[in-house]
Amino acid sequence: TPILSVASEAYPLVKTGGLADVVGALPDALTPHGFATTTLLPGYPALADLIAQGETVHRWPDLLGVEARLVAAQLGEHPLLVLDAPALFARAGGPYGDTTGRDWDDNWRRFAALARAGGELTSGHVAGQRFALLHAHDWQAGLAPAYVRALGGRAKTVMTVHNIAFQGRFDRAHFAALGLPDWMNSIHGVEYYGALGYLKAGLEAADAITTVSPTYAREIRVPEFGMGLEGLIVDRADMVSGIVNGIDPAVWSPANDAALPARYDADTLDARAANRAAVEAAFGLAPGSGPIFTVVSRLTWQKGMDVLADCLDALVAMGGRLALLGSGDKPLEAAFIAAAARHPGRIGVRIGYDEALSHLLQGGADAILIPSRFEPCGLTQLYGLAYGCVPVVARTGGLADTVIDANQAALAAGVATGIVHDGVTPDALTHAIARAVALHADQPRWRRMQLSGMAADFSWNESGRRYADLYHNLLERP
Ligand code: ADP
Ligand code: GLC
Repeated sequence: TPILSVASEAYPLVKTGGLADVVGALPDALTPHGFATTTLLPGYPALADLIAQGETVHRWPDLLGVEARLVAAQLGEHPLLVLDAPALFARAGGPYGDTTGRDWDDNWRRFAALARAGGELTSGHVAGQRFALLHAHDWQAGLAPAYVRALGGRAKTVMTVHNIAFQGRFDRAHFAALGLPDWMNSIHGVEYYGALGYLKAGLEAADAITTVSPTYAREIRVPEFGMGLEGLIVDRADMVSGIVNGIDPAVWSPANDAALPARYDADTLDARAANRAAVEAAFGLAPGSGPIFTVVSRLTWQKGMDVLADCLDALVAMGGRLALLGSGDKPLEAAFIAAAARHPGRIGVRIGYDEALSHLLQGGADAILIPSRFEPCGLTQLYGLAYGCVPVVARTGGLADTVIDANQAALAAGVATGIVHDGVTPDALTHAIARAVALHADQPRWRRMQLSGMAADFSWNESGRRYADLYHNLLERP
């Protein structure tokens, strides 16, 4: 059964976060269940070669005011459609903003065009293209279910929320340019607190809503997590489910990871020592017996990075070291750089984005710190589990659903996989770090935790089946 996945990023072509990993892995996850996924992406500069080599399958003289065409290419083994609209996407900078990080002024038009293309593709408006279902990811694809409705398409639609904090809110004056029916300029359509809400539109129009963990699906029913959309989530509660992300074993397994100096599995865990030494060298850490903590993260409030910055003196005082890779808010970047200057040889910081280094850190550090205030799913704790890099996480969203805290009972039963703390405060995080330092000093126990994490199954097997079940249920409906 052919389905269309509409998104703004997909690994390995364009990635700013976990969304790309998930969109890139979904087609493989669905194949065993009889679904053939085509992915629709914007034609950013990173896709220029694909656009140049691909075949044009459709042209729009005027797609929301610009010339556009669809180019057929490949995402791994799977079909990819690239929306080539140079006026919207062929510009230097990131997928959402310029080189300084400022959002593009015409994001409302860029992602309405992407969604409209998806809507037309699944509504029989593009010759030769047929899809039974449209799967929209995050606000950038949020209008797609609305377009399917507006165009009278019979395809079923699924709206997946990877992060409800990013909602795609724009000036209501743009409504006229979207080419949607007037009735959608209302609370039952795209209107959202006097503005336009792209994610809101998708949540309203889609046949089913999913988010990326069961705990987050519950959390977003209240204002603290729903961030304005909680009412809609509660109203449509019957349609909302949580499906935890999987990880792609072709990209994330320590036994065949080209980014690691030493590859290993559960039987050869000692080989990690070489990777650990490589982490020390890369981050200028002096040798020591305490654990090396790592962070691989956007440096933002969501991720609790301000709280972590306040715990670093304590972390060092306990004998810990830190290797941090990340980028984001400038004051947070500055705080970590200052901490590294205060603690030479104990704290090393790399500001930037580096896929290979992120693998080395998972394969060489002892523990990964993820003190998120909210976390729809989180992938870095899953990579940590797979790599024997013990996750130390806040009890929220997907972190709560995927890490088993090393409490007395779990340790006694030998099932603990990490450390889970309640609340994101300096006290709670410092206490969690102290627990990690103490457990690390008990090497047999630590190894047991590493092995339990490595044995846990976070492949796409189970989650792929759940998406497939959801699709089947929708497709059986009249
Ligand atoms: P989010 O999508 O909210 O940022 P996730 O944990 O779902 O959080 O996914 C983050 C993804 O981005 C992971 O694949 C992680 O390894 C990667 N990542 C984050 N920051 C960096 C960085 N500075 N360098 C390389 N990879 C990074
Ligand atoms: C978002 C969330 C993250 C999730 C990712 C993929 O970026 O912040 O928790 O893992 O999407 O679903």
